[in-house]
Amino acid sequence: MGLIGAVSNYKGGVGKTTFTVNLSAALSYKNKKTLIIDNDPQADSTRAVLPPDARIEGCLYHLLNPEETRPVEIKDCIYRTIHKNLFILPNISETSGLEIPLAQNYPNSNLYLRKAVREYVVNNYDFIFIDCPPTLSLFVNNALYAADFVMIPMDAGSGNSLEGIKGVLDLMDSVKKDKNPDLRFLKILINKVDKRKSAHQAVIDDAIERFGANNVFKNSIPTSSLFESVEFVKGQTIFSFAQKSKGAQSFRNLATEFLTFF
Ligand SMILES: Nc1ncnc2c1ncn2[C@@H]1O[C@H](COP(=O)(O)OP(=O)(O)OP(=O)(O)O)[C@@H](O)[C@H]1O
Ligand SMILES: [Mg+2]
Repeated sequence: MGLIGAVSNYKGGVGKTTFTVNLSAALSYKNKKTLIIDNDPQADSTRAVLPPDARIEGCLYHLLNPEETRPVEIKDCIYRTIHKNLFILPNISETSGLEIPLAQNYPNSNLYLRKAVREYVVNNYDFIFIDCPPTLSLFVNNALYAADFVMIPMDAGSGNSLEGIKGVLDLMDSVKKDKNPDLRFLKILINKVDKRKSAHQAVIDDAIERFGANNVFKNSIPTSSLFESVEFVKGQTIFSFAQKSKGAQSFRNLATEFLTFF
């Protein structure tokens, strides 16, 4: 049986998508069949790994839309990527328009993602990662109701990203008390570390003091302009773009550490 991890932080731009895409790719190289669910209508992880020539027939929009007239099957919403063991369930910007109607008119809509994907994906993949938008709203609720565990990336260059962690932990508590009691918090990932900057060390120390060293991955991800460069090359990850870089190596190390928890 596979496991589903939600990747969330209320703050934007901390590295949720970079973390989801590159940890998934690193695990796929370790022969883990891995699926990314793009739960963000910004569709950044879709653009990152969906091959540029792929035509999206079905995606998260169709699975979440209660008024979908052309029902699609989950297996028809999953696409291959450049990496053999890495797959994507993509998203499109139109999904943002579902949020208000779902929240206002469909009382059980927090469970729609779980109902649409959980059984199929845990039976067909080793790891499934849900890339969340920078909110604490309906889509993030859906991810937490669908997931087995939560990982929270933070930006070492921004004290504000610590505030986004607290928001996710509070939301986790309410989801656990409601209908997903087994949901567990895995770790915080410290991203965008520049060891030359003392302010970064202060943010890291603050995170460890507030959340405990045991709750933080030992491996962090350095600041590297290659993570930005790879965004301009659709369908590629750090492993196809710059496999020998420090950034790629840091995700390999992180994947090794990640696997020790399972
Ligand atoms: N370690 C890193 N070094 C340098 N740049 C990085 C690093 N991690 C992420 N970035 C860059 O920072 C920006 C934000 O990263 P990313 O899109 O992964 O964040 P996010 O949390 O998913 O954002 P959003 O909240 O909008 O979904 C991107 O341009 C990305 O390339
Ligand atoms: Mg993102």
